[in-house]
Amino acid sequence: MAKSRILVVGGTGYMGRRFVKASLAEGHPTYILRRPEIGLDIDKLQLLLEFKRQGARLIDGSFSDHRSLVEAVKLVDVVICAMSGVHFRSHNLLLQLKLVRAIEEAGNIKRFLPSEFGIDPARMENALEPGRVTFDEKMTVRKAIQEANIPHTYVSANCFAGYFVGNLCQMGTLLPPKHKVNIYGDGNVKVVFMDEDDVATYTIKSIDDPRTLNKTLYLRPPENVLSQSELVEKWEKLTGKTLEKISIPGEDFLALLKGADFAEQVGIGHFYHIFYEGCLTNFEIGENGEEASKLYPEVEYTRMHEYLNRYLDF
Ligand SMILES: NC(=O)c1ccc[n+]([C@@H]2O[C@H](COP(=O)([O-])OP(=O)(O)OC[C@H]3O[C@@H](n4cnc5c(N)ncnc54)[C@H](OP(=O)(O)O)[C@@H]3O)[C@@H](O)[C@H]2O)c1
Repeated sequence: MAKSRILVVGGTGYMGRRFVKASLAEGHPTYILRRPEIGLDIDKLQLLLEFKRQGARLIDGSFSDHRSLVEAVKLVDVVICAMSGVHFRSHNLLLQLKLVRAIEEAGNIKRFLPSEFGIDPARMENALEPGRVTFDEKMTVRKAIQEANIPHTYVSANCFAGYFVGNLCQMGTLLPPKHKVNIYGDGNVKVVFMDEDDVATYTIKSIDDPRTLNKTLYLRPPENVLSQSELVEKWEKLTGKTLEKISIPGEDFLALLKGADFAEQVGIGHFYHIFYEGCLTNFEIGENGEEASKLYPEVEYTRMHEYLNRYLDF
């Protein structure tokens, strides 16, 4: 069977570039939306040139030009959108509504994967303000997809290791703490950590799979379901050093909301749901979902002690 043609929207982004790489690695004809708005952004341009060298096709298109999106979508079978959705970086999730309209009009797409790749927004109807905006916007996009009857897969990728593992889940830094580590509550709530490259690998595996059609794919490989304390222990074992642990009760953590700027408040809310409420693991995957490592046992996913290794002597 011929491999599906994949269009990656947001292909120069933090996740988007990984989808491009994984798609090329799996031998899919890979297309990337090239937006004129990147202008003089030399880093994006260089990355696009490199992907072209590796065999990707660059397709001109803009979110300000509906026809260009329709024409881009018509060239492929599958669209993966990696639109930005991190407040302290860039956040444009609702722009995807334009892409949904283009996919609906083009009428040829066998699978659309919107920009999700985090906490399952369908389980976050009681999320805290203002961080709930991420979940609400992802649900708005889902609603548009479903109303347009577009075949889809939602990928719930849990905690990206780059944001959560190297820093032992500390806020406001991406580096491991040297002496003291804040522990959320008793530190025993189970979380799921994922190497971002594995997120891309599992995502690409799912696109032609009838088992994931119109379902949520949860990335929950068993050895990466860990508590914060277990993660800290792994780091202490690697470094041979013990960190001072400072336990933060839930109400003290929430008190940080006061005086924080908007992006920080979003982060505090998300951390609270993950590390105090256990929103990544406090449910069974039901019939509307599949677990990635069960579907694709051939993927050798990165374990978190291996991931942490790269931070040694950094
Ligand atoms: N689970 C986790 O721990 C976690 C962590 C981070 C992010 N995420 C999720 O992952 C997804 C992708 O986030 P990311 O950090 O990879 O995004 P990002 O790198 O900040 O941005 C991705 C792409 O969005 C596109 N974009 C941004 N502004 C745009 C605009 N005004 N018009 C058109 N395109 C625009 C750009 O595409 P071009 O390449 O075309 O310029 C950009 O490269 C989001 O849904 C986010 O919530 C999850």
